[in-house]
Amino acid sequence: MKFEGANPTGSFKDRGMTVGVSIARASGFRATIVASTSNTAASVAAYSARAGMECFVVVPKGKVARGKVAQVVLHGAKILEIEGFFDDALKSVLENVEKLTELGVYPLNSFNPWRLEGQKTIAFEIFDDVGIPDLVIVPVGNAGNIYAIWKGFEELRQLGLIDSVPRMVGVQASRSAPLYLTWIKRSRELVVVENPETIASAIRIGKPVNWLKAIKAVEESKGFFVAVDDDEILEAQRELARRGIGVEPASAASYAAYRKLLEMKAIDRDETVVLVATGHALKDPDTPMKFFESITIRSPSELIEVLRGTKG
Ligand SMILES: Cc1ncc(COP(=O)(O)O)c(C=O)c1O
Repeated sequence: MKFEGANPTGSFKDRGMTVGVSIARASGFRATIVASTSNTAASVAAYSARAGMECFVVVPKGKVARGKVAQVVLHGAKILEIEGFFDDALKSVLENVEKLTELGVYPLNSFNPWRLEGQKTIAFEIFDDVGIPDLVIVPVGNAGNIYAIWKGFEELRQLGLIDSVPRMVGVQASRSAPLYLTWIKRSRELVVVENPETIASAIRIGKPVNWLKAIKAVEESKGFFVAVDDDEILEAQRELARRGIGVEPASAASYAAYRKLLEMKAIDRDETVVLVATGHALKDPDTPMKFFESITIRSPSELIEVLRGTKG
């Protein structure tokens, strides 16, 4: 597993945001803006604060995980809520790129190429750690990351450092799976999902802006897309956590896909597979808290009684 939860704000977004915000500041912008399912927002809020810049985040009202919003609040970014989905939030930024730029506000969604330049370092680190795996499984939302990772490997290949790139596998949640649907229908048009749903709020996206880039990465690396259900995501999240790896639901999608692909015999146990765990478990505290259970004890002796009861 390539665990991205140990980055400064707890997700892979920091890799691109440190580059993007540095560019924004060096180019003389006064502020940054993103539309976000909220890891991007948490990251841009922190890096903008560090750069001494104002920051605006546009988020879908009521559809973002609490840990991420808490980070945005803490770092002092201004939150703009929009009725609808992430796709509506992104539209508000995309349709105004020129006007925002005139106002000195730098858009930092993943259509921004600097973000992807930062994120490709995931590939460099995988290469350092395990060489070239057979497959890399990546949860896909707006689809920038899978392209960025592929680009990293592809650049290593072009430099003559490696002979081949791993097969890139994109995972989506079954009810938010525009790229999976586009892939299996072999459509040359994006199959848009109008009302995307999933517990994995980070990848609840129906119209990924980088869809063509993601198709290119998957096609050229001879990979594929796969979809997993929310209960498979939750089971994968729990299983990983019981092994000491705490990830948010979107990240657990990569492990859910791995289990599914093994079961379907689409991949082999002998293959080297890297699962990108994109964000930390604390990003979304409400999901694990649905399974909260406790035992009340009223005295020190009761503690021992309870422990004897649970022995074995
Ligand atoms: C935890 C997590 N996983 C996966 C993704 C999807 O990444 P991308 O939008 O680059 O496909 C995101 C994006 O918000 C995310 O926050």
